Amino acid sequence: MIIAANWKMNPPLAEAGALAAAYAAATHDGVTRVLFPPAPYLVQMSMRLDGSGVLLGGQDCHQADSGAHTGDVAASMLAACGAGMVLLGHSERRQDHGETDALVAAKAGTALGEGLAVMICVGETLDQRAAGDAEAVVTSQLEGSIPPVVTPDRLTIAYEPVWAIGTGKVAGVDEITAMHAAIRNWLAGRGLGQVPVLYGGSVKPGNADEIFAVGDVGGALVGGASLKAEDFDAICAAGARAAAICASA
Ligand code: PGA
Repeated sequence: MIIAANWKMNPPLAEAGALAAAYAAATHDGVTRVLFPPAPYLVQMSMRLDGSGVLLGGQDCHQADSGAHTGDVAASMLAACGAGMVLLGHSERRQDHGETDALVAAKAGTALGEGLAVMICVGETLDQRAAGDAEAVVTSQLEGSIPPVVTPDRLTIAYEPVWAIGTGKVAGVDEITAMHAAIRNWLAGRGLGQVPVLYGGSVKPGNADEIFAVGDVGGALVGGASLKAEDFDAICAAGARAAAICASA
């Protein structure tokens, strides 16, 4: 199980150190934890998490190696600050910054070239789901956002229905089961059948066990609940329970 914390543009730096220290103090068998903090916090978080087993990642990177791109961050800079991974194509990046599948694929290619692992986000809007297009939208995002040359062991997919992010609405188990099966099927057709597929969107301690019981769910990308140490810890504990059930099956 992979449980990733997406802090987005939170919390204040004064709180971030204590939160990372709480992550570092916990252990959960069978769970790989990843923290995506704001880029300016990476070096400090890297020191806090040193030796804890919690991996560090950037929330985005530019598609170019370097150059005149004011305000952007290069994949090599993330790596130099202690990140081993980068989150790409989050729906907030797609919505707020007009990121297209092609741009996400270009960023992923650059990040992989710098030795980073990539977590690529896909997910449909409520209108797309209501129109019956959810699976077509998601598979087309996979097709366009995964670069042509990819190392399967450095790729993770996060399925995040846009309407479930930060809203408290969670996709139903049937919806998650169907979409994860469709994603798994698509990946298997490209020789990427072993790539982990996480669920994201209002994952909380109260719903994590149910979500992790879905066979194709390989973990979670957690936003709001990752900002409370005890909630993130409870979600990781649910991940450890799911990993134990899987190992004994
Ligand atoms: P949420 O965010 O858990 O607050 O819904 C998830 C995400 O956007 O990655």
